[in-house]
Amino acid sequence: MDPHLLKNLILRRRTRKPALFEDSSPTQETIRGLIEIARHAPNHHRTEPARFYLLDSRRIEQIAKLYGEVVAGDGSDPQLVERGRKKSIEWAKVPGLLVVTCLTDRTSDLVRKKPAVIEEDYATCCCICQNLLLLFEAEGIACKWSTGPVWEHPRFPDALGMENATHERVVALLFYGYSQQTPPNRSMLPLDRVLRTNEESAG
Ligand SMILES: Cc1cc2nc3c(=O)[nH]c(=O)nc-3n(C[C@H](O)[C@H](O)[C@H](O)COP(=O)(O)O)c2cc1C
Repeated sequence: MDPHLLKNLILRRRTRKPALFEDSSPTQETIRGLIEIARHAPNHHRTEPARFYLLDSRRIEQIAKLYGEVVAGDGSDPQLVERGRKKSIEWAKVPGLLVVTCLTDRTSDLVRKKPAVIEEDYATCCCICQNLLLLFEAEGIACKWSTGPVWEHPRFPDALGMENATHERVVALLFYGYSQQTPPNRSMLPLDRVLRTNEESAG
């Protein structure tokens, strides 16, 4: 394998604004194929915690409506109501939405013996999400990982068709579609600010 391909993919991947996605979207069959690949991520105890919800436009609209209601709160603040209205319209327009959740049964023998499994399962799901983002990038599909807390809405589990609302939490709402955007450069901390090597600590 050419190592430059993966390096370039990682460096090129950027969050794109869903409001600027084109109307057309990749087929669900394409996304299904990418999910199948992305699932091959490290997973302590092989618990396979990730669940995927690939939504059609009707469900996207339902989820968008619920998010609008979450943002609007109890309706007493007109600014929040307006913000909720706008968010609802923005979300309803996205051509594609894949929700990734993490299902860890907290009453299981494994979790009782090893509570760290809860975090480890979440870590696995995050690895899968990054795999997905890179696969999207390779296919020319733009994406935004969102954690807009739509799951705070009591009707969210039903609207999503969640497998197990008690033990499942949302890891990512992946909005996807085609897009011509070129996001501005992203600056990072200098590597030496975040990397310590044995040489330095020895000195
Ligand atoms: C766990 C997680 C949650 C995120 N949630 C949001 C979000 O709710 N809204 C948003 O605009 N971007 C969200 N993002 C995208 C980040 O803001 C974005 O990755 C960051 O600005 C760096 O930009 P880049 O992805 O282009 O490198 C999220 C990213 C991650 C990893």
